[in-house]
Amino acid sequence: MIILGIESTAHTFGAALLDVQSFTEKKVLCNLRDLYTTEKGGLIPNKLAEHHEEVCDALLKKAFAQTGLSMQDVDLIALSNAPGLGHALKVGSLFARSLALIHKKPLVGVNHCIAHLEVASLVTQAKDPVLLYCSGANTQVIAYDGGKYRIFGETLDTGIGNFLDTFARDLGSGFPGGPKIEQLALSGKKYIPLPYSVKGMDVAFSGILTHLERKVIGKEKDEDIAFSVQETVFAMLVEVAERAMAHCDKRELVLGGGVACNKRLQEMCRLMCAARGAACYVPANEFLVDNAAMIAWTGWLMHVKGGVSDDPSTLQILPYERTDDVDVTWR
Ligand code: ATP
Ligand code: FE2
Repeated sequence: MIILGIESTAHTFGAALLDVQSFTEKKVLCNLRDLYTTEKGGLIPNKLAEHHEEVCDALLKKAFAQTGLSMQDVDLIALSNAPGLGHALKVGSLFARSLALIHKKPLVGVNHCIAHLEVASLVTQAKDPVLLYCSGANTQVIAYDGGKYRIFGETLDTGIGNFLDTFARDLGSGFPGGPKIEQLALSGKKYIPLPYSVKGMDVAFSGILTHLERKVIGKEKDEDIAFSVQETVFAMLVEVAERAMAHCDKRELVLGGGVACNKRLQEMCRLMCAARGAACYVPANEFLVDNAAMIAWTGWLMHVKGGVSDDPSTLQILPYERTDDVDVTWR
C-alpha cells in the first residue's frame, strides 16, 4: 500500500511516500521537506503560507519523480490537520483535500504531535515508549495509557524550541536558532547559574528568558550563556521524562521534535536511561524534525489498524487539538 503524507503545521512543508505492507514490512520511499527560514527575526504567518503555496506542488512532483510513482499509485493520503499555525494548516489542508477529491483517494487527518511519537515504531525498535517531544511550539512528555496518548508533563508557557529561538534572536541570530546555540555552547566553559523551573511534572521557560534578557545577556560571554542555558533547560526536560518513565513503569524513551537533534540533549537522555536500565531511542534527524514520513506512517496506522477515514470535503483544520483529545483506535 502506498501512502502519501503531507506535513504542513508550521515552518516545514513536507511530502513523503511510504510503501507499507504490514506493521513490520514498511519502507520510506522518500521523505522531502522544504523549510521556511529567515535571516533575521521570527516566523511571519502569511509569509509562511506563501512559502508553502509556492513549494507544495513542486515538492509533490519531486517525490513522484524520485520514486517513479504517480498519483494513480497512491492508496491513501495522510495530512497533518492538527495542531499548528492556522495559516500553514490551511495550505496543507487545501492541497491534500483537493488531491483526495480530484483523484478519489481516502484521506486521514493526523495529529502532528502523535505522529512524532508513532514515528518511533517506523524507524526504531521501540514498542511502548515514553516520548520526550521537544520542538519549537511543543514541549511534552507523552505516553500511551488507557486508550489515549496522555501528556504527563508539558511546558506551562513557551515551547523549548521557541525559547531557544528567541534566546538566539536576542544574541543576533535568525531562525532557526537552536542549532546556532548548540554550536556556540560547544565552546562554553563557565556555568552561569540560571533559574531551574520544574513545577511538578511541568516545565516553564519564559522566566528563564526574562532573567537572561535582564541580567545575563551582554554581561557574560555568549558561548558561556549558551552552554549554561543548554545544561539548565535540558536537565529540566530529562528530570520530567525520567519521572514519567518511573510513574508509568515504562522501559523505553524515544526523542522527538527538532530540539531533539541536539547532541547534548541526546547524551543527557542516554545517561539517564542507562542509569535506570532503560532503552533510549533517537530517530535520525530527518524523523525528529517536522517531516511527512511520520504523518504517512501514522495515517497508515489510523486507517488500516484503527479504521479511521475522513471526508475530504469536510475535514477541518484543528489548530488547538491536544494530544489527549484523540481517541487511539489503532493500538
Ligand atoms: P512542532 O509543530 O512539533 O512544535 P516545530 O514546528 O517547532 O514542531 P520542529 O522541526 O520539530 O518544528 O522543531 C524546530 C525547532 O527545533 C526550532 O525551534 C529549532 O531551533 C530547533 N532545533 C533544531 N535543531 C536544533 C538543535 N540542534 N539544537 C536545539 N534546537 C534545535
Ligand atoms: Fe513537530
